[in-house]
Amino acid sequence: MGKVKFGIIGCGMMGREFVSAASRWCHLLGDIPAPEVIAVCDTNEALLGWYKKHVPSVRHICADYRELLEIDEVEAVYCAVPHNLHEEVYIAAIEAGKHLLGEKPFGIDRAANRAILEAAGRHPECIVRCASQFPFYPGAQKLVRWINEGGPGQVIEVKSGFKHSSDIDTQKKINWKRMVDVNGAYGCMGDLGIHTHHIPFRVGWVPERVSAQLANIVTQRPDAQGCQVPCETWDNALLACDVRTQNGDAFPMMIENKRIAPGSTNEWYIEVYGMKQSAKFSTNDPCAFSYTESMGSEQAWCRVVIGYKPQTPTITGNIFEFGFTDSILQMWGAYMSEIAGKPQNFGCYTPEETVLSHKLCTAALASEKSKKAEKLEDY
Ligand SMILES: NC(=O)c1ccc[n+]([C@@H]2O[C@H](COP(=O)([O-])OP(=O)(O)OC[C@H]3O[C@@H](n4cnc5c(N)ncnc54)[C@H](O)[C@@H]3O)[C@@H](O)[C@H]2O)c1
Repeated sequence: MGKVKFGIIGCGMMGREFVSAASRWCHLLGDIPAPEVIAVCDTNEALLGWYKKHVPSVRHICADYRELLEIDEVEAVYCAVPHNLHEEVYIAAIEAGKHLLGEKPFGIDRAANRAILEAAGRHPECIVRCASQFPFYPGAQKLVRWINEGGPGQVIEVKSGFKHSSDIDTQKKINWKRMVDVNGAYGCMGDLGIHTHHIPFRVGWVPERVSAQLANIVTQRPDAQGCQVPCETWDNALLACDVRTQNGDAFPMMIENKRIAPGSTNEWYIEVYGMKQSAKFSTNDPCAFSYTESMGSEQAWCRVVIGYKPQTPTITGNIFEFGFTDSILQMWGAYMSEIAGKPQNFGCYTPEETVLSHKLCTAALASEKSKKAEKLEDY
């Protein structure tokens, strides 16, 4: 099935991940259009040499995203720019009639997110989605199927988290992700939050209220010149949420987003505790799915290594191991299928779901101030 011509706006870490995924499209089986990167844009010229060297299909290089969006043959764009630019760049891409895979948090705040959603609403012909790759791990997909098949029975509690630890180094230089004006007031929630919302929100577990504990642990960091400057973003967030499902079930959901979690290099996990059965998945054990078996009145945790069985079939044998870059490729497989009009069992994070994420993060900020539980419907 043909190709879709892509432009990349923001050629940093995630731009390169996309190129890597696009350049091993032969890995995927099935009739999915391949992304062909023909245009790249970044204000930092030093980054573009890598693209010139590794992406022979690139024929347009620019520093102004408006120039890229004016290229008629560009059909779709991947935008991986700092959060303060999401509103401006995403809206411009959609208004230019391009399909858009935008990075999270899909707007620096609730108002920016609302404006992006309005633009998407004006252009239903554009397939607009938000990047979120971790749910595409086979173990996470198994967990989603297990939930949808009623595996947990009555839900007791859900825990969903994403934790890093590199900020424990107080001498780590400040970057835009630790600056309120560029990253946003959400702090770690804007950076890590959507990763932890995708599965719960998709299965219908949307919080009614949130009670937040936010922590700014390292309040200054060295800048590029080594001078100490304020570091005002939230490092860690613990969100205690009340969930009520459409069928009336109510249970607590704990969401944790942490930049300073000792021992957690890059730990994304979800745990579901149920009266019938419990199950969990973590990227610390990326090939396994864990679940409980009842043994009389006790429960045993069982761990099954499920291997390489992602949603989009690939050339890799299903006994092998799955990793981060595979999850990025699977997310892209899902997005390209959606562009081709082939809805997936488990699709990419939708603009409507990003609205729920923004309501949760905004309510969490309010809860931190009020020291009370805040209702999402108020935000
Ligand atoms: N899905 C994930 O796992 C994941 C991981 C990290 C970051 N992200 C998201 O990706 C986005 C980018 O993060 P990153 O880690 O790649 O950051 P990065 O700093 O490595 O890259 C951002 C790039 O945008 C460029 N840029 C800045 N202003 C620009 C402009 N006006 N026009 C064009 N380019 C411009 C910068 O020069 C930089 O190269 C963010 O939204 C972030 O939240 C997602």
